[in-house]
Order: sequence, then structure tokens, then C-alpha cells
Amino acid sequence: MAEKISSNLQNQDFSITNNRIAKPSSEFYTVFSQQEILHLIDALKTRREIPLKYSYKGAGANIWDNFYRKLIIPNWYRSNVEIQLLRDNFQYLNEKTQNSQKVNIIDVGAGNSYPVKEYIRKLDKLGRIDRYTALDISEELLEVSKRNFTRWFPFIKYTNSYIDIENSSIPEYLLHQNNINIFLHLGVTIGNLQHRVKALKNFRQSMGKNDLLVLTNEIGNNSQWDGIARGGCYYHAEQIYQRINKNIGIQHQDCQLIRKYDKKTDSVVANLKFTYDYTIDFSSTGINKKVEISKDEEITIWRHHKHQLPELIQELDQSELQLVHHSTNKYQSHIMAICKI
Ligand SMILES: C[S@@+](CC[C@H](N)C(=O)[O-])C[C@H]1O[C@@H](n2cnc3c(N)ncnc32)[C@H](O)[C@@H]1O
Repeated sequence: MAEKISSNLQNQDFSITNNRIAKPSSEFYTVFSQQEILHLIDALKTRREIPLKYSYKGAGANIWDNFYRKLIIPNWYRSNVEIQLLRDNFQYLNEKTQNSQKVNIIDVGAGNSYPVKEYIRKLDKLGRIDRYTALDISEELLEVSKRNFTRWFPFIKYTNSYIDIENSSIPEYLLHQNNINIFLHLGVTIGNLQHRVKALKNFRQSMGKNDLLVLTNEIGNNSQWDGIARGGCYYHAEQIYQRINKNIGIQHQDCQLIRKYDKKTDSVVANLKFTYDYTIDFSSTGINKKVEISKDEEITIWRHHKHQLPELIQELDQSELQLVHHSTNKYQSHIMAICKI
């Protein structure tokens, strides 16, 4: 009998507690820094979450880039909400920055840089762009951004750098005091973060008195989610789920993917639910940590929080930022908020 079980469950050990053991793959350890691994383990232990921001790293960069190019660009509904909102706000942004001859664009969470292509082209035509800086937690997406941007705009200065905007402000050497900086945080990324106010405070700390922060998010009431997964919640979450299974070493038959409204975070989440007791063993590479997860427990692998306008203003207020202008798309599903210190 014992032989039969072990042959059925390849790559798994049993401890005395009978938990199945998952051992993260070698790819897992190469993609993350030691500090990121420790954060990830802590998030798993204390709040049963693998922060979504880590899923853009390594092969996750391709997942996002493919998702963006295959599903976001051709889809009429989401059809470039960001591009349309940047188009709608072009004149406002231009007028607001007239006391500087040129602007620097600092795109935080730049992804593949697609959403800013049209905006940069228009700025360039007016001779108003000095430099584009792409910042991201994913080194691999920074590579994609660089490849795209330098092909589209070989004559515009391009810089990129790693950042985790929840943990640090933008380093001073990337800021250019002689021009106005326009910080972009697009792709409804603010709604995916755990520490939204911390991130906003980090933006605030990096901004000068004439600088602008431009962010987008979905707007609406999270608790009234209709239970139908769409867009990122459907496609992106599914791909992340499969990759986590593979990279952490959880067998497909021992878990399932569920989406739901989570009252605690007032967000729609995608959770990996365990159907078997598991121990995730991070002890290779000297990190002597294990996380025990019981049957029926869930870990969050994707999350999104829509803002209602008063709440967004409140979070900006807590971060000492003021909302100076905003607009929504024609379906009233997304907002572009323009802020100053
Ligand atoms: C939803 S995608 C949006 C990408 C792009 N701005 C767009 O609109 O298509 C989120 C991007 O932000 C990055 N990101 C997520 N969390 C981050 C964090 N805490 N700090 C820096 N970048 C982050 C991801 O790697 C990814 O490139």
C-alpha cells in the first residue's frame, strides 16, 4: 500500500504529520532575491498570500506580456482604457506642465510600456519629452519595456530600474529637477497592491511641487461583484495559478482555483484552495523555513480593489496628495486621477 501511494505521488515526501511536501523549484530561487523570498514566506505565513507583484517576475513577465498583447489590446471593452484615458487627458497634462519646457515621464509598474506609446509619440511631436524612465519590480518586464521603447523611440533617452513601490520611494538619481516629472502608475496596478497608501506615500516623497502623479484604477463597489471572472481575474489569475503550482511544487489534484469577494480586504480575489494538508518547504538554499497549510485553507494569489471616488480622495489625503483632476472612461468603469503634492 505504502509503495502504491509513493509511486502515485511522484516528487512528494511524507512527514510524520502526513502532510504532503511541496518544494519550490530551482527557478523559484533564481527569480527572487533573498529579501523577496523572505517577504513572500512572511506573507504566506501571516496572511496566507503570495503577493501578486511577485507573479510578474521570471516567466511571469511573459505571462503578462502575452496577456496584454493577446487579450487587452484586441479586446474592445477593455480596449486600451489606459490609452484612451491618456488621450482624453493629454491636453490637461500638457497645460498643467507648461512652465517647464520639457517633461520627464517616470512610469512606475511600466510593464511592457505599450500603454504609453501613443502618449510619448504625441509629446515627442511637440518636442516636450526629455526622458522616459521605466520602473518595475520585474527585471524581465524591464527588458521587454526597453526592447519595445528603444525600437519605437530610438532618439528619446530611456532609463530603467528595479523598484518595489510598496517598499521604497523613487531614488533621487532617477529624478530630474530641471524638468517637471510626470509619474505614471497605470494598468489599475494601485488596485492590486496590498499597501496602497504606503505606495502613494512613496510617490509623494519622490515628487516636487510642480510634479504630477497620474494613476488609473477601476471604480465601483467591490462587494457588488457579480461573481463572473473577467479580464485579469479570469485569464491572468488562471495562468498565475498554474505557474505557482509548478514552481512551488503543489500537485494539480491537491488544490483548486476559486475567485470570490473578500470582505477583509474589500477586494475580489483569486485563491488557491488546498484539498490536502501541505507543508511548503523552503529549506533549500539555506532559508530554513517551512509553511504548513491545512486542507481547505486558501492562499490569495491575485487581488483587485476598485476605488470609490471618496475613498480614493481619502487615501490620497492620507498620503498628503491632492486630486487635481480626474476623468472616467465612457463605461464609467475606470478612472484616471491626476494628483499633486
Ligand atoms: C497590471 S500591470 C500594468 C502594466 C502597465 N502599467 C500597463 O498599464 O499595462 C502591473 C505592473 O506593475 C508592476 N508592479 C506590480 N507591483 C509592483 C510594485 N510593488 N512595485 C513596482 N512595480 C510593480 C508589475 O511587474 C507589472 O509590470
